Amino acid sequence: MLLKITLPASGLLLVACLAASPRPQSLSGTPQPAAKSESPNAPAYNKDGAMLFPKRYREWVFLSSGVDMSYNPTAQASGHPTFDNVFVNPEAYAQFVQTGTWPDKTVLVLESRAGMDKGSINHRGHYQGTEVMGVEVHVKDEARFPGKWAFFDMDNEVSGSLFPKEASCYSCHAEHAAVDTTFVQFYPTLLPIAKQKQTLSASYLKEGATAK
Ligand code: HEC
Repeated sequence: MLLKITLPASGLLLVACLAASPRPQSLSGTPQPAAKSESPNAPAYNKDGAMLFPKRYREWVFLSSGVDMSYNPTAQASGHPTFDNVFVNPEAYAQFVQTGTWPDKTVLVLESRAGMDKGSINHRGHYQGTEVMGVEVHVKDEARFPGKWAFFDMDNEVSGSLFPKEASCYSCHAEHAAVDTTFVQFYPTLLPIAKQKQTLSASYLKEGATAK
């Protein structure tokens, strides 16, 4: 679904990717007992391997919003901008602040929303619409995925499908992302930490590390 990532030549916006998951509840609504060390924000999956929707991601740490981001150098701005909002579970954020990189069980969510222009008192610029256009998740689960990380596309507010390892998600993130396959160069509160802790990837440094 979404992520209209514009690859060179095609075009367009980046949009959503997403998230983690709350511990299943029993029918009575009582949370099931969690393993001691496991947070309710830890990733969870159903028996078919689909990741459960991270229901509370909107209460997590906000990293950044991108508007109409494109990977195509000749991309034109579209009339209808798309926003993407990135969130991470608070446990992983706290670890990143300490170490400059992500611990096991990190869940990053990319949510996309349509940009709106005229509404209420707004006459210029754009704000975000209420409808979520897509949610994609980038999850680090070392014991589960051979490459440690995996991408999921949330099909609905219940669960999401795994992108196969051949999907472009993996190669673009591996080749261009600043820290451990995540786009920290675009997360303004994290980039200075990664610089200080010297956790920036070799490929990112080689590309010129142009994000300021
Ligand atoms: C051409 C490069 C490229 C491709 C392909 C790509 N992404 Fe991304 N992705 C990005 C960039 C750039 C960001 C930063 C977004 C921002 O700053 O708002 C990002 C951010 C994300 C995030 C937020 C967490 C993170 O890792 O930084 C998720 C989740 C995500 N992408 C999922 C996906 C999924 C799923 C796919 C495949 C369907 C995909 N991406 C394909 C470039 C890419």
